[in-house]
Amino acid sequence: MKYGYFDNENREYVINKIDVPVSWTNYIGVKDLCGVFNHTAGGYLFYKSPEYHRVTRFRPNGVPMDRPGHYVYVRDDDTGEYWTLSWQPAGKDLKNAKYVCRHGLSYTKYSCEYSGIHGEQTLFIPLDDPVEIWDVKLKNDTDRKRRLSVFGYAEFSFHHITIDNQNFQMSLYCAGSSFDDGIIELDLFYEEKGFQYFTANSVENSKENFDCLRDSFIGPYRTEANPAAVEKGYCSGSFELGGNHCGALRQSFELESGEEKRLVFFLGEGNQHEGQKIRYRYSSKDFAKVDSSFNALKNFWKEKLDKLQISTPNEGMNTMINIWTLYQAEINVMFSRFASFIEVGGRTGLGYRDTSQDAMMVPHSNPQKSKDRLIELLKGLTTDGYALHLFNPDWFSKQTAPAFKSPTVVPSPSKSQMVHGIEDACADDALWLIPAVVEYVKETGDFNFIDEKYTYADTFDQLTGDGKKETVFDHLKRILDFSAREIGSHGICRGLRADWNDCLNLGGGESAMVSFLHHWALTHFTALGKRLGRDVCLYENMAANVRQSCEKELWNGSWYTRGFTSSGRAIGSPDCGEGKVFMESNTWAVLSGAVSKERGIAAMDAVNKYLYTPYGLKLCDPAFSRPDDEVGFVTRVYKGLKENAAIFSHPNPWAWAAEAVLGRGERAVKFYDALCPYNQNDMIEIRKAEPYMYCQFIAGPDHSAFGRAHHPFMTGSAGWSYFAVTRFMLGIRPDFDSLIIDPCIPPSWPSFFIRRVWRGAVYNITVENPDGVSKGVRECSLNGVLVACNNSAAEIPAQKEGSENFITVFMEHKNR
Ligand code: NOJ
Repeated sequence: MKYGYFDNENREYVINKIDVPVSWTNYIGVKDLCGVFNHTAGGYLFYKSPEYHRVTRFRPNGVPMDRPGHYVYVRDDDTGEYWTLSWQPAGKDLKNAKYVCRHGLSYTKYSCEYSGIHGEQTLFIPLDDPVEIWDVKLKNDTDRKRRLSVFGYAEFSFHHITIDNQNFQMSLYCAGSSFDDGIIELDLFYEEKGFQYFTANSVENSKENFDCLRDSFIGPYRTEANPAAVEKGYCSGSFELGGNHCGALRQSFELESGEEKRLVFFLGEGNQHEGQKIRYRYSSKDFAKVDSSFNALKNFWKEKLDKLQISTPNEGMNTMINIWTLYQAEINVMFSRFASFIEVGGRTGLGYRDTSQDAMMVPHSNPQKSKDRLIELLKGLTTDGYALHLFNPDWFSKQTAPAFKSPTVVPSPSKSQMVHGIEDACADDALWLIPAVVEYVKETGDFNFIDEKYTYADTFDQLTGDGKKETVFDHLKRILDFSAREIGSHGICRGLRADWNDCLNLGGGESAMVSFLHHWALTHFTALGKRLGRDVCLYENMAANVRQSCEKELWNGSWYTRGFTSSGRAIGSPDCGEGKVFMESNTWAVLSGAVSKERGIAAMDAVNKYLYTPYGLKLCDPAFSRPDDEVGFVTRVYKGLKENAAIFSHPNPWAWAAEAVLGRGERAVKFYDALCPYNQNDMIEIRKAEPYMYCQFIAGPDHSAFGRAHHPFMTGSAGWSYFAVTRFMLGIRPDFDSLIIDPCIPPSWPSFFIRRVWRGAVYNITVENPDGVSKGVRECSLNGVLVACNNSAAEIPAQKEGSENFITVFMEHKNR
């Protein structure tokens, strides 16, 4: 069953059957003001922090689902009938109403045909101003004049997520609202900058046209589905110092047959004065600034996407890579992982491993944000070489004492709350930073970054802003040294609190994945060091030792063991009854470059044999059924869910990349296609979740809901999917001084095309595959001139900034 389609021309996903089984969400805003909204305009807005500065309220995990939201009600003033421009909350019978939702890149458009009135509501946030714009258009499609009232409505929050949900004895009496000059102002009296406004292009100053109090607008024993004010046809002019507040504004007018009208609402950060300025800026000259801001937003995304566009025989891959996968990866970098309908703002800051991986995926489309994130991460490292698992980057910048301490400001944690000890360290966290830094340098050519100096978390003094400072290069060394020190009796890295798999809690036991990751990080580091002419012998030797321990201790004769518990029991090996084969150890064995090709092939064959399902690869098999605290929390999760043998999306692209390294293009695409959300567009009765987004996991075959996808948007799957497809399967990889072309494709692909912008030059790359092979390049020409191919990959030297280059690559002959 399907509920919509991909509109690639407009870069939108169109939901034309609006009663989707679960919320299908989107993100608006790309800077400080951001919102998460679903297909029926349910959702919330926040400024900078979803935890400490929530603008509008959301009742997560509630009934009815996903309320409240940013709603526009339309009322026929002749009949008293009313509806909303998004299907919910009014929820008109779909036999009489046609609703469509278009999720675009950082905007969402709701449209509705009801009672002869066509209505549209577009939500977006301009690049330059912290204001959410609700661009509303109405058209009278009947042959008679209509008298209509339109109400815009949103419920304000008390900012701090905890205070907004408890301790009402205080918050309720320190939040006030007022109305003046067509503008509603919310004032959180106990905050210095506790203001928001709600206004519209034209609101007459009369009490019928506004309500600042939620309970007056909605009325007792009612919900957003049938607000008293809308039913009556007018507001009551409510406002008060204290109480629950909303922005509710009414505009009433007549529409002749065929006539159209445009109304714009503004929900923004700042006080009433700010609201006046914004309203003037955006309403004058027939809303010219609304239109130009919307176009600027579209261009903002177009420029990013234009950095890499592909055309392959795989339509799903084209649509996902050209639009949605980069979008999802970028949203993860912008929002971190803590704003969605699942993560509803109770946590804030940066998760070390997630942010490192996210930052690695978008240096071509967002170099500055990638670098900013890398710097935040460098400052979140300890001098011992382990990283802070979850931290707030503000902790490690100089603090200015707040003028006054309100209950809603961000709390000031003590040093011990900020900098945890090794007992809370995850063994993998910091290792991800090394390839992220190296990939950033390869993409941008910003070699100077490596010698920039940054502080460490444990020596940082918030008052002076000082602490031990070392170069980026030295930070990376400390990470590698930490992993070399923290090894167990097999010489494999200790698992500590967890590794990438949050639910594998091995403590003093050992993790194969971390040793493989250590090797991967070492290869990145030594390549960087050599390019910079530095002595990295120590680290080359370290890598050789890691290789030796991995091959000796982790190869179990059939595939790669996942690790050892603290009592020395093997996990992920053939004699384990449960948790016999794991994705992480086998994919990373190959990706790390630490193992032989022969063993790599066997390991990935085991992945195919034990972990493949039509919806993607399971994380492990068989699922754990009995709690076993030596293994960890994974044994306490239901079978087939999350890390316990679900199809965990994030590691799936590791398998595509590993298959590409091994030269098996067909297998890589088989795995790609299984997970690809695009391919599940017409099986929503199984998938449930949105088909334009990767989800954190998909219930595995051990679960009754096999195939159901959970937790869209906020997952590292998108970044990794992008990385695995573009760099390994299509094989276009920036190196320090050249662009490598090393594809691994299914033999059935006759050719593909990729347009890649790298360091300001454009590379139009056509790859021809006349003999139907998977891997190997025999000939390559750059602007008509033959280029040398080494190790069966082509290497294009960096071309002049601003140049447009044409590259043709011929893949190998068969059987060579
Ligand atoms: C989600 C977490 O955000 C991520 O850090 C972790 O690697 C995966 N779960 C797997 O446990």
